[in-house]
Formats: sequence, structure tokens, C-alpha cells
Amino acid sequence: MARDFKDKVIVLGVTGSVAAYKACELASRLVEAGAEVIPVLTSGGREFVGAASLEGITGQRAITDMFEPAQNPEIEHIALARRADLFLIAPASANVIAKSAHGLADDWLSTTLLATRAPVLYAPAMNTKMYQHPATQDNIALLKRRGCHFVGPGSGALACGEFGPGRLIDTPAILEAASIALRNDHSLEGKHVLLTSGANHEPIDPVRFIGNRSSGKMGYAIALEALKRGAQVTVITGPCDVAPPFGVTIIQADTAVTMLDAVTDLLPSADIFVAAAAVADYRIENPPTKKQKRDDQPLRLELTPNPDIAAHVGLTRAAHQIAVGFAAETHDFLEHAQRKLQEKQLDLIVANDVSGADSGFGTETSRAWFLTPDEEAEVLPLLAKSELAERLFTRILALPRAAAVCDG
Ligand code: C5P
Repeated sequence: MARDFKDKVIVLGVTGSVAAYKACELASRLVEAGAEVIPVLTSGGREFVGAASLEGITGQRAITDMFEPAQNPEIEHIALARRADLFLIAPASANVIAKSAHGLADDWLSTTLLATRAPVLYAPAMNTKMYQHPATQDNIALLKRRGCHFVGPGSGALACGEFGPGRLIDTPAILEAASIALRNDHSLEGKHVLLTSGANHEPIDPVRFIGNRSSGKMGYAIALEALKRGAQVTVITGPCDVAPPFGVTIIQADTAVTMLDAVTDLLPSADIFVAAAAVADYRIENPPTKKQKRDDQPLRLELTPNPDIAAHVGLTRAAHQIAVGFAAETHDFLEHAQRKLQEKQLDLIVANDVSGADSGFGTETSRAWFLTPDEEAEVLPLLAKSELAERLFTRILALPRAAAVCDG
């Protein structure tokens, strides 16, 4: 995600909330990722966090007052409203949300929010009753209709002693939402991307399983890329080593059969299906319900072939649905991938080399090829999985079938 913030100008508005101190960590993460962060403290924000902290972290003068003499004409609100790539209001009080919704401009932040055309992301933090009040809910709905982004709030114990929604959502979730807002990409707006991801664990008995080395990193990179393009994303995931993106719906399905059930349920609503899971090829039918005891005799397991989820989707989907698969290979990449593309009736298959130290299960990068039924295989350089995901959707959107999916 770090490359999303490199050289971006982010105005970080900090408003009146006990959570204002958390803006320091957020600012620090953004600066680390290469962003230029301009802190703005409202009068409420200044009650909770000092300008000196934010200035120390960002290396920028904190803006606190509408009428302070502009030391740098770039800081002048109109200039900054133009120069900013993103306005991030974290924590966002009920007050700043209400002012923005109704176009009030009585301090630096609210004035500049009116002047900017940059994307705006609010991370609300307030008392539960204030958050749930119809006035606040209506204001949030109004801002969303205008294209503003929201992340959180989280739920839990609040500083006021109440329990419920109103906590500033955690920094990683804000960073993810900021990367989505910054991208400002609507190429999959209104579309539902369904994907399988991660490994399968096929039980041998209640405590043992047959598994594989899939980490889930590729699947989650695809899910995040789809979110950044404005899609609604559902990930049917088996066991994996990494945390999923915050903005996706997660359905846990540890075995191939439960994964197929979940895919079958959700497929009718999907526009694009991506099979990124390392689905187990075999299972043990009716595994014993009690832990099996060891003895000195060889153990023979009878394995039943699992359903092929990608092939099921490829063969049964509606004409407007796009189906994409992966072919994880150690040799003869293109031959194997070509055969799978045809057998599974997919629109696109990503052949990837899982034999190298820098490409395959658990790595951060991948060496891959895109194969489609009608064109020459496209050879890709070694790419970060996030970059591979970005190129994958660009390629998907160039498929002949995508015209029906994305114009409809
Ligand atoms: O396992 P194989 O290499 O044939 O599968 C490649 C593609 O098919 C991957 O996209 C994988 O997610 C999918 N697959 C599946 N169900 C299986 C086996 C593979 O969906 N049982």
C-alpha cells in the first residue's frame, strides 16, 4: 500500500475528539509511506492534541487558525485546496461532518473543504448517541451521496463510558480507505467481484488435515485492487496467513466443498469471479469424528477428488459474467495454463511460477503470464502482488466480455 501514498499531498484534519491523539500515529504512517502531510487542527482538535506533536511528525507547520498571517502562500487555503490529493479528516467530529454536509465555512478546515475538489475521507469518532442521531446519520448519507468517503467508526467501549459505535477505527483501516479514496478510480463502480482465496484444509480427523502452502496474499491483493476500483467485493477464503482488506465481505470456507457451496450461493450476483484459492484436489470422504491413534502400521488414506470450482463457474456462469483463474505451476507454465484455460472455460488465466524464491506461495512478488482464448500470452515482469492485481483488472476490463459487464 505504501506506493499509493508516495509524493501525495494529504491534508490531515484533526477535530475535537478524545481520539485526536491517534492522528499522530496516522500522520507518522503516512509520512513513512512518502506522503507530504499538512496537519490542520480545529479549535476542538487543539483541546486534545498539541500542534507541536503533529508538526514534529510531519515536518510541516500545523494550520490552526483561519486568520493567522500566511507564512507561505502555498498554505493559503485556496492554494492548498487545489494542491491536495486527499483531505483526510481523522478523527471527524459530528460537528465537522454537519458543517461539511451543509456548506458552513467558519474556520480553516470547513472553508477549505468547500474549496477543494480533492477526494475527502472522514473517519468519524464520537459518542454513540451522537453518531446514531438522525441528524448525524442524515449528514453522513448526504456526504456519501456527494461522493465523500467514510471509514468506521468502530464499535466498543467509548471514553464517555458508553458502549457501541463511535470509536475511531484503527489506523490500518484508515490507511486502506485513504489509499482507496486517493485512487479515485470508479472503473468497477456498482460491480460485484467474487473471489476465492487462500488454502484448503481437508480434515483427516478432528485434529489433522491435508493442506497446502497458499498464504492468501495474492487473493487479498486482488480483493484490495477491486475495492480501489470501486467494486463491492466478497472473498470466500480458506485458511491464510494475512489479514484481509477491511472493506470486503469475508466468508470463511476451509474445504473445497464448503468453498463450492459458498461460490454457488453468491455467483448469481457476481459480475467478475476470480479463482485465486489453492483449492485442494482431494478430500477424505466422511473423516472420523474421533482423533485417530497412532500405531506402527502404514496408514492408508483414501482420497476422493474434489469438485473443480473454477470449472464449475466457467461452465455454468451467465453470458455477462467474467471468470478468471490462476494456474500455479513449477514447469511448462504456458502449456499447463493453456489447457486449464480451455478445460475450465475461463476468460483469462494467470499462469504463475511457484517454484522461485521470489515468486509463489507466501512471497511478496510474482512472475506471471496472462492467457486468454484469443490472444498471444502476455509475459509480465516480476511484480509485487499488488501490481499484478492492478494489471490483472486492467486486462480483465479489456476483455471482449467486459464491455457487457462494465457498460451494463
Ligand atoms: O488446480 P489447478 O491448477 O487445476 O487450478 C487452477 C485454477 O483452478 C485456480 O484458479 C484454482 O483456484 C482453480 N481450482 C478450483 N477448484 C479446484 C481446483 C482448482 O477452483 N478443485
